Amino acid sequence: MDPYGLRRVVSPKGVLPQRADVLDPSLPLGEDEVSIAVEALNVDAASFRQIEAAAGRDPAGIADDVLRIVQARGKLHNPVTGSGGMLIGRVEAVGPRHPAAGALSPGDRIATLVSLTLTPLRIDRIRAVRPEVERVECDGRAILFATGPWARLPPDLPDTLALAALDVCGAPALAARLLRRGMRVLVLGAGKSGALVLAQARESLAGTGEAVAADRSQEALDAVERAGLCDRALRVDGTDAVGTLAAVEGAGGPFDLVVNCATVAGTEMASILSVKDGGTVLFFSMATSFTAAALGAEGVGKDAAILVGNGYVPGHADLTLGLVRRHAGLRALFEARYAAPR
Ligand SMILES: NC(=O)c1ccc[n+]([C@@H]2O[C@H](COP(=O)([O-])OP(=O)(O)OC[C@H]3O[C@@H](n4cnc5c(N)ncnc54)[C@H](OP(=O)(O)O)[C@@H]3O)[C@@H](O)[C@H]2O)c1
Repeated sequence: MDPYGLRRVVSPKGVLPQRADVLDPSLPLGEDEVSIAVEALNVDAASFRQIEAAAGRDPAGIADDVLRIVQARGKLHNPVTGSGGMLIGRVEAVGPRHPAAGALSPGDRIATLVSLTLTPLRIDRIRAVRPEVERVECDGRAILFATGPWARLPPDLPDTLALAALDVCGAPALAARLLRRGMRVLVLGAGKSGALVLAQARESLAGTGEAVAADRSQEALDAVERAGLCDRALRVDGTDAVGTLAAVEGAGGPFDLVVNCATVAGTEMASILSVKDGGTVLFFSMATSFTAAALGAEGVGKDAAILVGNGYVPGHADLTLGLVRRHAGLRALFEARYAAPR
């Protein structure tokens, strides 16, 4: 067994696949691996924008760059941004010792929930580049290790919508572990992950407590209010900790739980000042600085639990797709943003 895919590392030897410069995506398939006939790569936004800019926004140039990276590295690991994305495709073969043997069959459509920065990949042909959804449609083969999370693509939701939700499915699943009836919860950053956390709060609080959305974007706040996902909306700039504190005090004081889903750096202190002593701050945002959060909490004498948002939580994909199905407003929000014809 090789649960972390060490056998796929070409160079440098002895590192994990994510750290490797080059992976080997070729067959034969390991007994604990799954091979996937790739349909499309959903390239990480930062990576796609970098490749797009480098190619002068020319789709053929973007295709060439993607092919070049994958041929050189055996994975779509952007050497400039360090990021990857995820992919969708059909299962080609399931090794008999893979944990999903029995659950997955050849032909099943799945999305990989593990980064393309560690997914062995070969591309045979790029069929289309769709910059509006940061997607590269292609033929090729990818390998999933025994530890790589995946999700069956739901037949009742458009791919782009399902992928958008699955991309941040750790956020509502982690929040579900922390939410208790009667809590007051603040979600800073009311975008994709924030909306899902708010929907989870609706279910976990079941009419008790309070769920408040905070964002610098009035459009985002209007969208979650229209979707019926929050009790109140606060227009704040999370990089302005003092201004955010004033808004929070005006809204009934600090919260039991703060979930940071903002996309920019420098929002740690706004989150820490917004939580009660004894409360919890969950930093789902990738822009979070451990130093700023830990030293910042110490600096203001805040006795709060500070959690890093691990993107993997068992059952996170089903939980998230369930929220989208059950909350008509949330589904409409995702449809408008991710499934509308562009
Ligand atoms: N932990 C994990 O495993 C994991 C997995 C996936 C993603 N993430 C991270 O989760 C974060 C959120 O992703 P997402 O897809 O939900 O993003 P999103 O849909 O773009 O939503 C982010 C929201 O935050 C708002 N925002 C940005 N700066 C702000 C500020 N200074 N004050 C208040 N609000 C602000 C944005 O407003 P504007 O539109 O005005 O910018 C937007 O409404 C990202 O950092 C992403 O990398 C983490």
